[in-house]
Amino acid sequence: MSILVTGGAGFIGCNFVLDWLAQADELVVNLDNLTYAGNLENLASLQDGSKHLFVHGDIGNGELVAGLLAEHRPRAVVNFAAESHVDRSIHGPAAFVETNIVGTFKLLESVRAYWGSLPPEEKSDFRFLHVSTDEVYGSLAADAPAFTEEHRYEPNSPYSASKAASDHLVRAYHHTYGLPVLTTNCSNNYGPYHFPEKLIPLMIVNALSGKPLPVYGDGQQIRDWLYVKDHCSAIRRVLDAGKIGEVYNVGGWNEKPNLDIVHTVCALLDELRPRADGASYAQQISYVTDRPGHDRRYAIDASKLARELGWKPAETFDSGIRKTILWYLDNAEWVEHVQSGSYRDWLAQNYAGRAA
Ligand code: NAD
Ligand code: TYD
Repeated sequence: MSILVTGGAGFIGCNFVLDWLAQADELVVNLDNLTYAGNLENLASLQDGSKHLFVHGDIGNGELVAGLLAEHRPRAVVNFAAESHVDRSIHGPAAFVETNIVGTFKLLESVRAYWGSLPPEEKSDFRFLHVSTDEVYGSLAADAPAFTEEHRYEPNSPYSASKAASDHLVRAYHHTYGLPVLTTNCSNNYGPYHFPEKLIPLMIVNALSGKPLPVYGDGQQIRDWLYVKDHCSAIRRVLDAGKIGEVYNVGGWNEKPNLDIVHTVCALLDELRPRADGASYAQQISYVTDRPGHDRRYAIDASKLARELGWKPAETFDSGIRKTILWYLDNAEWVEHVQSGSYRDWLAQNYAGRAA
């Protein structure tokens, strides 16, 4: 038995692979083309002889994917591979269309051909699980109820539009060809191995290196945060018991304004790694020009997943954020390695024009 994971060298994918291999005795074939966000160091803790096979390649490479499917005969494909950063999608949307839309389409084509060739029992057991985001639902008014699975798609960034398109393709492959798909739409994740271009890890690494903590606009935009391991447990649960063709929202009922998040990170660092001068890291907060088209609020209603599949998160925000900060403090070498030349180029591109 095996599963094929795509994007398993990125933030959520690597956490999923590590958790999977800690709990199951089943080969994971991990297909990742190692963009700036993919990092094999994320998987360095795997022991020699662990059931992990890394394959460097693109989800859009039909020949490669067909070969992997034919050779390993996975019982499931879990698709994490994507361009995932909203700010990058504003500076360069083409890569998002290429991977998130065209790549997912090509992956679906490869999987459809493989699935069609399976004998009846394997065919009915097979699943294609597509990992998506709450951002496809757009922005909520301050008093609006949280997104349910029935909420209209209203993507506002090139990132969320490309993810929305991929969700539609996945849905269509079920309705048209009968492909046994499952889709999860999750809120913002945080935790170990999070690339420091996203809010929480960027604030941690900037704070520790004495740099400004750039808060976009008024910092009152709201996100709904979930510890990454809880996202992984939700995906495993949906893969095991989800109803074919269904969508499951995943979230931790944990809405917070960005500024609160930044203050929480500062307070924990003040406690765990105080600044040499005794001042709070909060002094480094710097308000900068807002993100164009910035969604004001996301909030996920995850009650379907709780009600139908019995899933609930293991971490509260307080426990998860403490674990996260401790992880970054313990893994300074990982942080140093990801802050390569291309990372510095990105910071210059994204933050240079945002006057404090
Ligand atoms: P990430 O950017 O950290 O990792 C993406 C991974 O995909 C990288 O390892 C990258 O090398 C790989 N990849 C990119 N293009 C590829 C291609 N064409 N072929 C093969 N591999 C490719 O992203 P993440 O935060 O781990 O997100 C994973 C998935 O979860 C994405 O689909 C994202 O939309 C979704 N998601 C993310 C969040 C979040 O908060 N990070 C929340 C909900 C959903
Ligand atoms: P991000 O981590 O990029 O996730 P997303 O845009 O997918 O929700 O950003 C989370 C929130 O933090 C979002 O409202 C934008 C804001 N933000 C800042 O205020 N400053 C920053 O430097 C970054 C990267 C994000």
